[in-house]
Amino acid sequence: MTSRESPYPPGSAAFPHRDLVGIDVLQPHEILFLLDEAAQWVELGRRPTKHDDRLAGLTIINAFFENSTRTLLSFEIAGKRLGADVVNMHAAQSSIKKGETLIDTAMTLNAMHADAIVIRHGSSGAVQLIADKVDCPVLNAGDGQHEHPTQALLDALTIRNAKGRIDGLTVVICGDILHSRVARSNILCLTSLGARVRVCAPPALMPAGIEEMKVEVFHDFNTAIEGVDVVMMLRLQMERMEGEFIPSPREYRHLYGLTEERLARTSPDTLVMHPGPMNRGIEIDSTVADLVDRSLITRQVEMGVAIRMACLDVLTRRTRKVEGWQ
Ligand code: NCD
Repeated sequence: MTSRESPYPPGSAAFPHRDLVGIDVLQPHEILFLLDEAAQWVELGRRPTKHDDRLAGLTIINAFFENSTRTLLSFEIAGKRLGADVVNMHAAQSSIKKGETLIDTAMTLNAMHADAIVIRHGSSGAVQLIADKVDCPVLNAGDGQHEHPTQALLDALTIRNAKGRIDGLTVVICGDILHSRVARSNILCLTSLGARVRVCAPPALMPAGIEEMKVEVFHDFNTAIEGVDVVMMLRLQMERMEGEFIPSPREYRHLYGLTEERLARTSPDTLVMHPGPMNRGIEIDSTVADLVDRSLITRQVEMGVAIRMACLDVLTRRTRKVEGWQ
């Protein structure tokens, strides 16, 4: 087992959880363990031949009840690179549309003897509900406004690779914090690893009581961006908004968009991130998103596959009876 940052307990004690539903239950050394595990998969992904068949014979079901492009693709590629049989289930094809309850879906997936189930669902808590009913590891690929743990892990890996550390950095997360599971998981992950996290949003898009998550709250982006190491922009989640949350996209860009002028307020080594999908010209300008030396956006996608490989590998070690993990 590799260990670059801290000595880990051996085997299963390094990662005692069956599921990955949220960052909230992870200890800092458990997060670092997953990041370290991902390093080998970053390397594998850059080779012409990208196969490691340690999950051969295992079945992974990606059950996506909400639309997704990169997360679904990333989990699919991750499972396939590890040699598993990967099956994707889209909500549109499922019996959910015919009124099957979530519990019935869980029982059905369980009866198929999946070895890992990856779930994205529009309701916060739905993934835990399914995890409680099935016998295999469950990975949360985003549940409502709750958590998106693999996104936070891939973001942490991206930052650590670019900056060499996370501890002591200042990261500002700007945008629709209220509706964002990415923001929640990132706040938990980055603060747990010793970063200072600022959140910035118009008052209507800032959740009440967010200070309790050990973040500094800003409503003025020009102030929030000063002195930061990383700027993480979030999409306006229109599909989760009922009613008027922002005056107009134009006004929003003026106050909260990451433009070249605004980025110029930061130091030249301040890096830019966005989980995607981007609304170019609203929360982030194309000229900023495509900056070769400062934008980590495509790097995030690359790290996403590696992190998901690490999570699938680690969580199936008990099933595979890997030494020290029985
Ligand atoms: C995010 C999501 O679905 O939560 N996207 C992603 O996973 N890459 C963020 C978003 O939808 O804006």
